[in-house]
Amino acid sequence: MPTNRVPVRATLVTLVSEIYLPLPTTSRLSYNATPKNWILATGFRILEHTGTMKRTIKEYDTIVLRPEDLSGHLDFARIFGRQHSVHLEIGSGKGTFLVHQAQAQPEVDFLGIEWARKYYRYAADRLGRWGLTNVRIIRADAVTFLAEHIPPGSIDCLHIYFPDPWPKKRHHKRRLLQQANMGVLIGCLRVGGEMRIATDHAGYFAQIEDVAAASGDQLERIAFTRPAGAEEGELTGTNFERKYIRDQRTINTLALRKRET
Ligand SMILES: C[S@@+](CC[C@H](N)C(=O)[O-])C[C@H]1O[C@@H](n2cnc3c(N)ncnc32)[C@H](O)[C@@H]1O
Repeated sequence: MPTNRVPVRATLVTLVSEIYLPLPTTSRLSYNATPKNWILATGFRILEHTGTMKRTIKEYDTIVLRPEDLSGHLDFARIFGRQHSVHLEIGSGKGTFLVHQAQAQPEVDFLGIEWARKYYRYAADRLGRWGLTNVRIIRADAVTFLAEHIPPGSIDCLHIYFPDPWPKKRHHKRRLLQQANMGVLIGCLRVGGEMRIATDHAGYFAQIEDVAAASGDQLERIAFTRPAGAEEGELTGTNFERKYIRDQRTINTLALRKRET
């Protein structure tokens, strides 16, 4: 009977299934509900080959704002514990932009707004794992949320990257960037504040240019600035952009600055 061999058993960790973030300097190993899954808080997910592929998601209280806790305009100084420049991202998806940008600009406070519960929860978990203090996320419909909770003239930059294009004509009324929503979007910007937009959809981009031109008395077109969190060769550093770069799609950008009126 050989004694110098370790039996390979079905319970060995055999697969690193996903690497979605670079490792922070300290790693924490957290054990989650099913004994089959060990998850490194760093962003590595390691599965036993007999285990399930489920990721344990946590809505970190330090990261999420809950609509039911809000009434009236947000007090950013209270939320972030300081009075700094505030940027909003509409449609944060899986939070890729927020996680990189919040680290690249620690002097700025970021609030992400995401409607889809699945993506909101994923992003909240991801931001929480990084222990970021200058970012929050809320699950809400952006236009309603801005109208009800963002103090007029309080935002330095609105990031709107790859908003849903709703390609069918009968669905165009669902597009975020349309004339009917411009008052709310412009209203939350401070004078000199910016709106930065990117889309791969040519038809939607043409509509966005028209809408921007129609608000020309309030918005001037300026050069698009790549966010600091974007990597080499990227314009925005979001998940969708990365996918579209791989697909070699054309990406259109537009930046607008709020005029003094
Ligand atoms: C095409 S994805 C882009 C996600 C991300 N910006 C990126 O580039 O990877 C559009 C995102 O906007 C979200 N969204 C769509 N309508 C929204 C709304 N009214 N309010 C907030 N988020 C919305 C969707 O759920 C989706 O996650």
